[in-house]
Amino acid sequence: MKSWWLLSSLLLLEVSCVSLQESNKPNFVLMMVDDLGIGDLGCYGNKTLRTPNIDQLAQEGVKLTHHIAAASLCTPSRAAFLTGRYPIRSGIAGTREIGVFIFTAASGGLPSKEVTFAKIAKQQGYETALIGKWHLGLNCESSDDHCHHPSVHGFNYFFGIPLTNMRDCQPGHGTVFQIHKYIPYGAMGITLVTAALLHYSGLITIRRGLILSLMSLLVMITALTAGFVKIIPYLNCVLMRNHRVVEQPYRSENLTQRMTHEAVEFIERNSAKPFLLFFSFLQVHTAMFASAPFRGTSRHGIYGDAVHEVDWSVGQIMQTLDRLSLRENTLVYLTSDQGAHLEEISATGEVHRGWNGIYKAGKSTNWEGGIRVPGILSWPGKIPGGRQVDEPTSNMDLFPTVVRLSGATVPEDREIDGHDIMDLLQGRVERSKHEFLFHYCNAYLNAVRWHPQNSSAVWKAFYFTPNFYPENETACFHTHVCFCTSNYVTYHNPPLLFDLSRDPSESTPLTPDTEPDFYSILAVMEEAVERHRSLVKPVDIQVSAGNVMWKPWLQPCCSTLSQLCQCQQDLLSG
Ligand SMILES: *[C@@H]1O[C@H](CO)[C@@H](O)[C@H](O)[C@H]1NC(C)=O
Repeated sequence: MKSWWLLSSLLLLEVSCVSLQESNKPNFVLMMVDDLGIGDLGCYGNKTLRTPNIDQLAQEGVKLTHHIAAASLCTPSRAAFLTGRYPIRSGIAGTREIGVFIFTAASGGLPSKEVTFAKIAKQQGYETALIGKWHLGLNCESSDDHCHHPSVHGFNYFFGIPLTNMRDCQPGHGTVFQIHKYIPYGAMGITLVTAALLHYSGLITIRRGLILSLMSLLVMITALTAGFVKIIPYLNCVLMRNHRVVEQPYRSENLTQRMTHEAVEFIERNSAKPFLLFFSFLQVHTAMFASAPFRGTSRHGIYGDAVHEVDWSVGQIMQTLDRLSLRENTLVYLTSDQGAHLEEISATGEVHRGWNGIYKAGKSTNWEGGIRVPGILSWPGKIPGGRQVDEPTSNMDLFPTVVRLSGATVPEDREIDGHDIMDLLQGRVERSKHEFLFHYCNAYLNAVRWHPQNSSAVWKAFYFTPNFYPENETACFHTHVCFCTSNYVTYHNPPLLFDLSRDPSESTPLTPDTEPDFYSILAVMEEAVERHRSLVKPVDIQVSAGNVMWKPWLQPCCSTLSQLCQCQQDLLSG
């Protein structure tokens, strides 16, 4: 009898401990805006765009002013965010020009052996959802094996696009596939003309048939590429609900409204249990869009209208949390995957790019404008509001932070590059644990950041920098993004050194004359690089040419091929 009593009270104790722990588990609402510049938000100093909801979030929480994306392109930055690891560790780092997925029907993606915070949260009993953009692969071997689908990475529910929003997804916005640029018309033309000249001058005899067939080959290639570009929207602009394609090509116009609606419903459905929502906006990436209520509301064209719509959406999410009394039990995060994409000027000359404030350059570079992103965290009652943290933090920090708050511990079988930032957010510590941060341009180590433990300096050394073109701009207009390969960069030995605490705009590189410790600073950084390199294991490259190319047999298609993979089924939420 006595032992029974003891046992049952032990059980009771156990149960109450578990439920206590459960009730301590916060919900997570993690919001990522695509290509949003740090200078686009009111709380980061913008005077003309109106972002009252995001500003309020910052007011109620912590605003990070030195928040760094682990990469300056979507695919690698998102891989790092989800896994807490430098993209090079998961193979999301190419050695060629291309650094992101450009086809839904590509075989690369975030490997299933990677561990995301969603996977861990799910194991901890969380209901999880991704609403919006994924951009981390879909299939491996067939058109529906979904080996890289968000569900493989811990997201129970998915409503969104497996790839990214792109110019091709909206009629009249042009294409990102400038394939004709890569057909060597010049060389082929010269060959043909030379051959004809030699032929008619009697030096050599070429059958007329040969010349004619060469010319028709040229015409055929041109027609094929033009035709291919025409069908890109059907191939790439795919909207999915879980494992089903519901719209192909999707209509972007009201997509943020629909996604917001989905997010609100997800929160309502799960208000009684712990949940994790990753809301990954398609805006403010090109093709630019904004739904009717927001068009014409800003002084910055359709780009500004899109920022206004994002802010509205954030407001809807926050209102939902308030209405369901979930604010004090929910950690909310808002960021961008990288800096604004400066090369985004539309075919008609309209500005479709954001603003990176005082920071140099933008997306696709490791200048601060490419990687310094907004970072806002709010959790009333747990994170003191109205504060600003100027210490270096990373989007990789969300991984260990979320994992620990969900009641789990971070995996010990792999390198994790992020740090739990709760102590920093709660003001229990002053210093960031990031003494060094490494900045990759695809697979190439591009720059290092060093925030010495005992000083306010933030040294940043560049091993190479992108060649801007035209040279008087800080952008790469000729290639639309800056590339990392040798033809497109300038190498620096000794590296270019800046102290961001004194020169946040990276305007004047230091020299041994202007910085007496020049060489010893670089030596410390070099040592850190060696250490870091020794801990990067070789893995399969997911963004290799073979893994990025279009593979027809991997193409998701919601109708028969002859119907051109076309459907508009998702009328329910339309
Ligand atoms: C606000 O953002 C817009 C759009 O990106 C930009 O053009 C403008 O310069 C920014 N204004 C300020 C004051 O930063």
